[in-house]
Amino acid sequence: MTLSGIEERFSIVTIDKEIFINNFSEDVKTGLTSESKYLPFVYFYDHIGSQLFEQICELPEYYLTRTEADILETNADDIASQFSEETVLVELGSGSSTKTRILIEAFLERQSLAHYTPIDVSHKMLEESSYSLLEAYPDLEINAIAARYNEGIDHLNIQTDQQNLITWLGSSIGNFDRSEVTTFLRHIQEIMLPNDRFLVGIDLQKDKTIIENAYNDTRGVTAEFNLNLLTHVNRELGGDFDLENFYHKAIYNEEIGRVEMYLVSNIDQKVFIRELDLEILFTADETIHTEHSFKYSLDDIDTLAEESGLCVEQQWFDAERLFSLNLFASAAD
Ligand code: AVI
Repeated sequence: MTLSGIEERFSIVTIDKEIFINNFSEDVKTGLTSESKYLPFVYFYDHIGSQLFEQICELPEYYLTRTEADILETNADDIASQFSEETVLVELGSGSSTKTRILIEAFLERQSLAHYTPIDVSHKMLEESSYSLLEAYPDLEINAIAARYNEGIDHLNIQTDQQNLITWLGSSIGNFDRSEVTTFLRHIQEIMLPNDRFLVGIDLQKDKTIIENAYNDTRGVTAEFNLNLLTHVNRELGGDFDLENFYHKAIYNEEIGRVEMYLVSNIDQKVFIRELDLEILFTADETIHTEHSFKYSLDDIDTLAEESGLCVEQQWFDAERLFSLNLFASAAD
């Protein structure tokens, strides 16, 4: 079957935009008034933050994107061969969908038509990346969902005569606490039918220097990405953060197995956020915790699967075993 024009092959639904916007002011207030200050990492990804993240993915030190793409290039055909013609490729946090192209191409090599459902909070990003994919692949159909992960998953139209390959790439899993991840994975497991699979890119524990370099790049893009969070607060909530008075810090906490990213105050200072009518005091060296990025051991991955009602069906690695791609099935089936 040959599909027609781009519009006929594209649909997009937007869920819970309001909730997302309202949470920003509440989350900023809660985070900056707590004893150890923090800001949720989800707010990195405004328009500029998303562009900066794309630049991070290109950095020589940031091995995650490159190695995951290599693993996909090498194994996409093997992966696609395990799925039927009617498979829907679902992607959580699709962003620019760059790596997904590798999978889409592998599916299109084997079948006449491919179905792709990207889920992302950014409506704009979904439209841009979908149009670019639809232009490149005339036999691709896209039903995009603009939502957060949980709401997006609930909106999926799971049908018994279709197979779903849900993907979660880029080690985004690392940005969530273990308990949050388990709850989320259980949610995925609950909606999975026996033939559905969940493909997850997970960064592995390794030498501290390799990890710390990935989050402290020499060009300062990660620092800019981190500091942009303050610009985001200034713009949306009328804050007066002076970016000159904060610096980026990222360390690998080997004991917990996670990168911790902070913004550190250079000086004693006061910051005012107009929309929140909130004055915040910082002492010199005080930190705002902005992100953590967990790195997993293979045992951690097994335990996580077990706790979530999943099992590891297949695993792929790059030659240096820096990164892993994991195919999970529901353990219930
Ligand atoms: C999106 N996420 C997996 C990235 C990471 O590596 O934790 C975000 C990032 N933060 C700094 N550099 C990249």
